[in-house]
Amino acid sequence: MKLQRLQGKHALITGASGGIGLAVVEAFLTEGAMCTAIDLAAEPSAELRALKQKFPSLQYHSLNVGDTAAVKALVTQVNQRSSVINVLFNNAAIFDMAPLLESDEAMYDKLFAVNVKGMFFVMQAVLQGLVDAGQTGSMINLASQAGRRGEGLVAHYCASKAAVISYTQSAALAMAPYGIRVNGISPGVIDTPMWEQVDSLFAQYEGLKLGEKKIAVGKAVPLGRMGVPEDIAGAAVFLASDESAYITAQTLNVDGGNVMS
Ligand SMILES: NC(=O)c1ccc[n+]([C@@H]2O[C@H](COP(=O)([O-])OP(=O)(O)OC[C@H]3O[C@@H](n4cnc5c(N)ncnc54)[C@H](O)[C@@H]3O)[C@@H](O)[C@H]2O)c1
Repeated sequence: MKLQRLQGKHALITGASGGIGLAVVEAFLTEGAMCTAIDLAAEPSAELRALKQKFPSLQYHSLNVGDTAAVKALVTQVNQRSSVINVLFNNAAIFDMAPLLESDEAMYDKLFAVNVKGMFFVMQAVLQGLVDAGQTGSMINLASQAGRRGEGLVAHYCASKAAVISYTQSAALAMAPYGIRVNGISPGVIDTPMWEQVDSLFAQYEGLKLGEKKIAVGKAVPLGRMGVPEDIAGAAVFLASDESAYITAQTLNVDGGNVMS
């Protein structure tokens, strides 16, 4: 039987209903972790319900990660009811874009409320639980290649993802004395539901046909294709597991070679 690399871990996965989050829930469960999945919808997605049939320990909670009080309350409740959360896959985020001069305050507030504020306060709540319990753990924050380099049409989203990289570094340094690791994953272009919106917005602003941007970005990847959510799941399992025990403060590019560091 294959060795399970996440036995004894309790992982919280945000934005778990589909896309990258869902693939990571499945990979973590397969590797023996207990998983608590979070997303906006009142009920778990059909895919999460199917996973629960196979892995009955999977729990689902409806939560807006931008609601800091609700985040704190939920993490406290989950920690009290079960083992303390010691792995975080901090994944929930939203996308939007517009030409720079039209990138208004409402878009800024909306993106930063989820991608930055939500990301930070979910991580802080999980870290507080670990410090209180005197336990170690591994946090994984979802950045993006968009956080490595600005884009004329994507300013607010790019800045929100650059903030993820910065918070990952600060939290890693703050938590190193507690033996808690904090890393990021920076995906390139991954074929998920988010890309339907990305593709149609690029079509609108760059005068492309629907689907054209998606084909172009896939062709431009050195490995010659868009990623799939499972491409991220492998890196997530590694960073969550003790195999990465000496890695902290890093944001790992998982992008087929798009960004070199
Ligand atoms: N797909 C890509 O090409 C790509 C590239 C770089 C980075 N990323 C990052 O990877 C992560 C996952 O992306 P994805 O493509 O799977 O996205 P997705 O849109 O397919 O899934 C995101 C999930 O987050 C949930 N969510 C959104 N706002 C939330 C909130 N306020 N509270 C709780 N849940 C919320 C959504 O309901 C959805 O299920 C994101 O952080 C994204 O920015 C994706």
